[in-house]
Amino acid sequence: MQVDLYVKNGTVVSHRGIEVADIAIKDEKIVAYGDLKDIEAKEVIDATGLHVLPGVIDTQVHFREPGLEYKEDLATGTAAAAMGGVTAIFEMPNTNPLTLTAADMADKVRRGREKAWTDFAFFIGAAAENVSELAMLERQEGVSGVKLFMGSSTGSLLVDNDEDIRRVLEAGSRRVAIHAEDEPRLLERRHLAKDTVLNHPVWRDEECAYRATQRVLSIARETGRRIHVLHITTKQEMELLAQNKDIATVETTPQHLTLSSPTCYEELGSFAQMNPPIRQEEHRLGLWQALRDGIVDVIGSDHAPHTREEKERPYPESPSGMPGVQTLLPLLLDHYNKGELTLENIVDLTSAGAARIYGIAGKGRIGLGFDGDLTLVDLKRKEEITEEWIASKCGWSPFVGKTVQGWPVGTIIRGRQVMKDGELIGTSAGQPVKFQECM
Ligand code: DOR
Repeated sequence: MQVDLYVKNGTVVSHRGIEVADIAIKDEKIVAYGDLKDIEAKEVIDATGLHVLPGVIDTQVHFREPGLEYKEDLATGTAAAAMGGVTAIFEMPNTNPLTLTAADMADKVRRGREKAWTDFAFFIGAAAENVSELAMLERQEGVSGVKLFMGSSTGSLLVDNDEDIRRVLEAGSRRVAIHAEDEPRLLERRHLAKDTVLNHPVWRDEECAYRATQRVLSIARETGRRIHVLHITTKQEMELLAQNKDIATVETTPQHLTLSSPTCYEELGSFAQMNPPIRQEEHRLGLWQALRDGIVDVIGSDHAPHTREEKERPYPESPSGMPGVQTLLPLLLDHYNKGELTLENIVDLTSAGAARIYGIAGKGRIGLGFDGDLTLVDLKRKEEITEEWIASKCGWSPFVGKTVQGWPVGTIIRGRQVMKDGELIGTSAGQPVKFQECM
């Protein structure tokens, strides 16, 4: 058989389990998988000693283009993604302008085609002004779904009352991704956001998160709409979500699984500030329990870069958010090496989960006919996360100085190697991700 790329002798983690196997890719698709013979390939990668995962999909990033390119843009954000072993990203609508119209979306897709290193999709923002168009907007090319902010965060996107949330959930049919923090409670408690970033999780407390998750679950049930609740941070929300798995999928982030309060704020100051906040150890452990219990469907990085100078402003003028697309997989591999999750968990949470939640067409699995998206990792390799390695325009990471075991060494997107041993290769050639409901 004549193919474009032949990845041989890797230890492949797939629906079949974990086994040494070969993978052949032709015309961007996987065409053979197993103990292969008689393959003639334009390019061969010997993956002996490496693990081969389905391409990692990060379903929550903020890449700031258009409008806030001084923080990040689609070229630097997707370069950071590829460096971290990520093959596709879904980007959030709190750019400037907000992504609210068909023209805003088409502009983002055009920019992605011009400069993205990885495949990409974009969320359309839900706002009172575009509700009547949402059913049409969610079906445009390159749209991963609708994003609804219930509590204010970075940018002005907000749908804070039940009536408007209901209107959004009644419009259209694809899954709606939710930022669940309760705006009335955030406003009531705003006076607590003062003096020190240690007060950030006091202001935006557990009850803020719980109330919003409870409200949106009840409206989702009433309207019969599927939702995806982003960056869950409390064990109580996990208990609630476990009772609603028929309508709600669940995300948590590597930073909420790795850092806890108060240590993260003592060590990192406002660089650990994000929404919803990093909370105490009991919640971190609760998230791990939920992950092991199968409540968590996906890990997204919530990559939300701000400049150093912005983050160094005194709290609460410091903006919320931290980069993470490049460290998502190294952190998970390190947790694997510490015995906290399995390789099967990682695959479920970084590719199969994303495909299941959003109905991705032809990605998220190492199987014949699927896109040739692979992430090659060296599970033994120990590396320190350094500023020099960080490709995000912001140039920092809360994890700089941390040594992890397990490192991405290759990113292959539709049969093209985009990252090899920490270097980007060739030119950017990302394409919009396709979705089953919009074919
Ligand atoms: O901390 C956050 N930063 N949470 C969000 O919801 C938005 C994000 C950003 O865009 O900066």
